[in-house]
Parts: sequence; structure tokens; C-alpha cells
Amino acid sequence: CGIIGYASPDAEPAGDVLLDGLERLEYRGYDSAGLAVANSTIEVYKRAGELASLESTLDGTDLVGSVGIGHTRWSTHGPPTDENAHPHTDCEGRVAVVHNGIVTNAEALRAELVEAGHVFESDTDTEVVPHLLEEFLDRDLSPEEAFECTLERIEGSYAIAAVVAGADAIYATRRHSPLVLGLDGETTYLASDVPAFLEQTDRVIYLEDEQIVRLAPSELVVRDGEGSVVEPPVETIDWDPEDVGKSGYDHFMLKEIYEQPQAVRQATRGRVSELDGTIELTAFPTAMRNELDRVQFVGCGTSYYATRYGAALLRERGVPAQAFVASEYGTERVPTEDGTVVVGVTQSGETADTLAALRDANGAGATTLAVTNVVGSSAARECDAAVYVRAGPEISVAATKSFASQQVTLATIASALADGTDRPFLESIRDLPAQVQRVLDRSNARDVAEELVGADAYFFIGRGYQHPVALEGALKMKEITYEHAEGFPAGELKHGPLALVTDRTPVVALVTGGDDLVEKTLSNVREVEARGAPVVAVTDDPDGVDGVADHVLEVPETHRYLVPVLTNVQLQLLAYWTANLLDRPIDKPRNLAKSVTVE
Ligand code: G6P
Repeated sequence: CGIIGYASPDAEPAGDVLLDGLERLEYRGYDSAGLAVANSTIEVYKRAGELASLESTLDGTDLVGSVGIGHTRWSTHGPPTDENAHPHTDCEGRVAVVHNGIVTNAEALRAELVEAGHVFESDTDTEVVPHLLEEFLDRDLSPEEAFECTLERIEGSYAIAAVVAGADAIYATRRHSPLVLGLDGETTYLASDVPAFLEQTDRVIYLEDEQIVRLAPSELVVRDGEGSVVEPPVETIDWDPEDVGKSGYDHFMLKEIYEQPQAVRQATRGRVSELDGTIELTAFPTAMRNELDRVQFVGCGTSYYATRYGAALLRERGVPAQAFVASEYGTERVPTEDGTVVVGVTQSGETADTLAALRDANGAGATTLAVTNVVGSSAARECDAAVYVRAGPEISVAATKSFASQQVTLATIASALADGTDRPFLESIRDLPAQVQRVLDRSNARDVAEELVGADAYFFIGRGYQHPVALEGALKMKEITYEHAEGFPAGELKHGPLALVTDRTPVVALVTGGDDLVEKTLSNVREVEARGAPVVAVTDDPDGVDGVADHVLEVPETHRYLVPVLTNVQLQLLAYWTANLLDRPIDKPRNLAKSVTVE
């Protein structure tokens, strides 16, 4: 879910500012949206569906107010209906609340409040918050006191923002859910993520867990959990607001795919010295490096596939490394004694499953490292150290450039851990941006997509470093096309999935990785060919697949550690163009959200 807030002496633009912020946050959830503007009374507008339904409900109504809040939702409690959309209100319409996260004791609180005469209108856990506020306001507490008392009653993870009629302020707090303030003179913004207000200001404050903030026009007060006023550091964001727009591309996803040369260049900027070929990851403390006996990676979705690639690289360099789906990490009971570094790979730095795994690891005494794209994110702040992948803002729900940046960052870390003296690898890193550009310039993925669209299912196979790419290629395909797609280790296909292979199930084979692997993968390709499956070979040696593949997606030759960066670009394009032909809502696939802040 995404939260936006606006407090300013300039009341005129409130509605527009909130809608604009919501539009920029829609990638965080888009099954319903709403906003509230507070003056002596509170006006609330909310609708199920994408932001456009809210906009058409408003139909140009001017929403004026010196404070306002908005929300875009990704359902966790209750279906996306008008009633379940945020903001939620109390019985008397005196209070409006937006919330991201889960109130885990909502059921008990709800029973108690119903008993006290409160009438609920939604199925959400959030609705207990405005009713609690109402309860405390009825006891003649000030809005600020009522907000604090409410927080004392609720459990779980949350970012919450509330307005109270006549109070002329937003009250907000966070616990395990992101919330950031944007400062622009007398105007203050509040949001789940920086792109919501980046066009207005690049000066931000990342709130800490349990801090409570009061945003009034011309006044901002932040208190810590004990109630003392604090002055959190103000940071300047170096993202370009242009990067947050589509810059002429039809979709954010395509724009972000095309930003990959820049993204991979940024990932190594200042980290790889061209002079002596050494690697310096300043954020990767030497102490951590020296004490390291084993590495455990955790991640979700695309980031999990990056961890599989990272773990394989480390193992090859002699470091024992394992990759875990973050939500399963706690169930695995792996040893985390001294010398264990747990690396959380997360684009947003806010994925609840990944944060929970990192907290588990911290609690068990492991050293933690965040590999993330978002400076100041929860993962970055909670881990012992952070390495930023520097992909720039990624808006499309389907991760693309952040994966490339993660691959390059993990490859660089692997190299740093192995003393950073691998010259051929370092030279290939230097050439990588140009090679990614070459793939983008010459890709025939659109033609291949046209040939194959309408298939029953798509299978992706790869060996070694290409196995995570096969998994990621299938994930990308299913996320944005809604077509069935699966990725397998190439050798595993014959042990079951082959039963599904027909002339209507294209098999995309990643045919790279040195003679031995290529030979074996080609024999797997022949197995599917014999069953009539159309074969797409993604390869750096088109001659080698002559006569075996129906379609070829070529990539330039590079160091074998880095070929998966290039092959993945072709798979991204294949998924994109297939989804485009099927007329899918590419940037906002149904049921998915970019950042999932619930476990
Ligand atoms: C969500 C997104 C995925 C993403 C995953 C992990 O499920 O839809 O695209 O890969 O979260 O996100 P993270 O921000 O932790 O990389």
C-alpha cells in the first residue's frame, strides 16, 4: 500500500497534490484508492479500482485544505471494495486514517469497540484505528494524546497517518513499515516512498520506528517513542525527478529495461578501480570480510533469484553460501554462529518477509548486510551494513533493472571477497554497459514474441548460472502476461515436466556457459524438439544452435559470470512484448504489488 500526506499554508492544491502523489505510489498497490482533506470538517473520497475510478468520482471537484492524506491499497484484509478502501473514518466523521501494514490484534479490538457501541463499515483491520481515536477524543484528550493512546493499543506492523477535524495537523507514525517526510519550505509531505513527492523536493527525513510526527502547515514536530522532541537528520536524495516519469516510453517497464546500461554502470561506479583492477566496496566493512566463514542470502521474488545467482558465485570462489526464500528462512533452522553473514537482497528494502528474516538472523547473532536499491530503507537501516545497487527508482511492478543491478553488485561483492584480483572479470564488468546496450539495440525478441504468442505455456531452462535466469524469465513472463510459465534446471526437464511439452509449449533454452554445459543443454533441447516444441535459444554462439533452435536471441560474449545479465535482458524483452501483444496492463499486473510490506 502507499500513503501520501500534505501539510501546507497553501491550501489550494491539496487535492491535486494528493492525487499526484497517489499516482506515483500506485506501483505499491492499485486495487482501491482514497483521500481525505481536513478543515473544520473532513471530506473523504474513496473508490475500489485503480486511481482513475477515484478521479472520475471527484470529477474535477476542488479539494482545498491545509492538511490532507491519501492512500492506494493492495488488499490484505477484505476484498477491494469502496468500503474497504482507505481512508477509514470513525462513527462521527471526525477522524480519517490511512494505514499500511497489519494490525494483528484488530479482531480483539474490534470486538471491544463494537461492545462499546462503535459501528464498523469495512472488513479491514485498519478501521479499529479511527474508532480507537474517536474513543480517546471522546475522553477529552487532545488529538495528539488520543493518537498516542491509540498506538499503545495496537499491535503489528504499520505506517499510519491520521487527520482530526479542526486540528489542522497530520499525526503519523511507523513500525516496520516505511514512512518518509519531504521538506519544502513551509510545506511538508509524508509518503511511503520518495517518488511520491520527488518533483516538489529532494530534502527528506526517514522516520525511525516508533517515532511520532505532527505535521502542521509551517510546523513539523518529531518525537521519539518516549515523547521527547528529536531532530532527525535531513538527507538529500540524488534521484532525478525525470527518472520517475515515463520519458516517452509506453510503459515504465520498457523504460526501466532500457535504463539497464546506465544501471549496471552505476552499480560499479567508484567500486572497481580501472587503474589497478582492485575492487573497493566501502560499505562492505573489512571486519565483516575478515570474519566471514559462510554467507546466507535471503530474498523474495526476483530478488530471491538474484540471491541464487549470488550464492552460486560465492560457492565457486570457495565461500560456503546458501540462498533462502526469505519467508522460509525462519523454518530452516540453519546455523548462524560466528562468522555467518546474512545478506538480504531487496530492491525496495521494505519487503516484510525479507526484513523478518534479517531480524531473525540479527537475533541469532549473525552479521547482516542489506543489498538494496533504496537509501534509508528499513533493510538498509536495520542491517549492520548496506551496499546500494544504485538502479535508480523502479516503478513498474515487475522488477527489471534492479535485478541487473543486483546481479552486478553481487558479482562485485563475490569478487571483492575473493580479493578482487580477477582481471578478466573486472574487464568484462567495464564492458558490460555497452554490451547490454547492444542487446537492447539488436534484440529480435519482439518478432519472437509475435511468433509464439497464444502458446499454451512457456518453459525456460538453464544450467549453472543460467538456472536462476530461467526462473526469473518464467516469473517475468507469468507476472505480466498471465500466461503459464515455468523455469527448470535444463537437466531436470526430462524428470517430469517433459510430460507437459507439446508443439504448443515453446521452450526457451539458455544455451551458454562453456562447452560442457552447452553440450548438455543442447541435448535437453533435442529432447523437447523431438516432442515438437518450438525452441528459442538464447545464446552467445548462434552457430552452435544452428539446426536445433527455431528462434535465436543472441547476446555478446562476455565473462561467464556476466552472461546471465545479458541473457536476462532478452527474456525481459520477450515477456514485455508478449504482454504487449496480449494488451495486458504491463506496469500494474493484477493482484501484485511492487513492495509487499506484510508477511
Ligand atoms: C514483490 C514484487 C516482486 C519483487 C518482490 C521482492 O512481490 O511484486 O517483483 O521481486 O516483491 O521485492 P524487493 O523489493 O524485496 O526486491
